Amino acid sequence: MAVDVLLGLQWGDEGKGKIVDVITPGYNAVARFQGGPNAGHSLEFNGIKHVLHTIPSGIFREGIINIVGNGVVIDPVVLKKETDALAKLGVDFRSRLLLSRKAHLILPTHRLLDAASEKSKGNAKIGSTLRGIGPTYMDKTGRNGLRVGDTTSEDFKDKYRFLIAKHAEILKFQDFAYNLSEYEKEWFEGIELVKSLQHVDSEHLLNRYLEEGKRVLAEGAQGSMLDIDFGSYPFVTSSNTITAGACTGLGIAPGNIGKVIGIFKAYCTRVGSGPFPTELTNETGEHLRKKGHEYGATTGRPRRCGWLDLVALKYAIMLNGVTELIMTKADILSGFKKINVCTHYLLNGKKIDYVPYESEGITPVYKELQGWNEDLSELKSVSSIPDELNAYITYIEKELKTPVTIVSVGPDRRQTLPRRAVSAHI
Ligand code: GDP
Ligand code: IMO
Ligand code: MG
Repeated sequence: MAVDVLLGLQWGDEGKGKIVDVITPGYNAVARFQGGPNAGHSLEFNGIKHVLHTIPSGIFREGIINIVGNGVVIDPVVLKKETDALAKLGVDFRSRLLLSRKAHLILPTHRLLDAASEKSKGNAKIGSTLRGIGPTYMDKTGRNGLRVGDTTSEDFKDKYRFLIAKHAEILKFQDFAYNLSEYEKEWFEGIELVKSLQHVDSEHLLNRYLEEGKRVLAEGAQGSMLDIDFGSYPFVTSSNTITAGACTGLGIAPGNIGKVIGIFKAYCTRVGSGPFPTELTNETGEHLRKKGHEYGATTGRPRRCGWLDLVALKYAIMLNGVTELIMTKADILSGFKKINVCTHYLLNGKKIDYVPYESEGITPVYKELQGWNEDLSELKSVSSIPDELNAYITYIEKELKTPVTIVSVGPDRRQTLPRRAVSAHI
């Protein structure tokens, strides 16, 4: 058996949480492989919306194991809030949730360092979610970090104090005022929760699952255009969000990767700073934001909106080895007479069909397609989707040379239309 990977192909918030929840019944285990509580993955059923930040989106399905992999960074405070919410709903998370011993911990001072770094950047700030992601990964690669496995060791508090003192020096140097005591209390409450959960060597466990013929789904966070290496650096997150990140973030050999399911929105959104070639800063962008409820699931910030960008999607498909596509939020495009799709860029006046190193001087070149008026949210089958939407999808498939296997037409589990026989998910 191989691990299937599901990830976002744009700038995050493509609808990964919803789709993971929908296809989880086809798997034995779901595993997050990177990122941390900068992620906000929403899913909806029985009229209730749930937002997860650290816990994989398969957690609501009975009998499925959910693993937080070694590549993830965990804030115990956020994790506790998530498990408290699950407990209220009667979800038996204790039997379903496993934490990798090698996953790194976000300390209270990592959040402060994030805030100090953004403050010092002024107008050039990344627009980080300020969840401490960058500083935690810096300590991981700097070989200073604390991990889940450390929480059960006797000298855990000493290790914590040692690292906090180091951070305090940096914060003093940056002249950043703060008060740690309040958050520290919550943090240690979170650590008690972390200690009480099941810790595993997830690389061994996952490879054993594969040997036993069990099906594993790796759930990505953020999106390919926010990848630390291939995104619009420095306006990126601090992990590899692409398929390769599933190998390092879970301990899966490249040859054991199966399907790569790439999720994209029928248009584009981005939160935070950085280049966004197809951004619409006009009424159309505002319309997409309002109709699509494009406000961050983690920070509540308004998302920047724009037309679909095929150049960026081709890049993401190349980097990830995407074998099938899932299109979300098709319902939000209903009502447009014409819909634009970016096919090329003009880079300082020269037409190009790839994502260049340069991030300045890019203008999108559009192809205009026919829109549709029908409300899609109640559709029960792909056979009843409007001809214009069919033409939109077929055009995208042709350009991207990759099949679209599912079309999502609303936030609820049920608003999901399988499109191709190759999709054995639902
Ligand atoms: P994620 O980070 O990729 O999991 O995506 P988010 O949860 O941050 O953002 C996606 C938003 O769109 C959430 O509010 C979802 O409930 C919602 N959503 C997902 N799929 C659809 C869809 O097909 N149509 C509509 N209207 N909303 C959707
Ligand atoms: P999900 O998993 C959208 C963005 C931030 C910022 C940049 C760096 O829900 O798709 P960070 O907090 O990592 O230092 O922020 O990345 N960003 C996201 N944007 N969805 C996300 O996650 C994101 N996680 C980080 O807005 O621009
Ligand atoms: Mg999100």
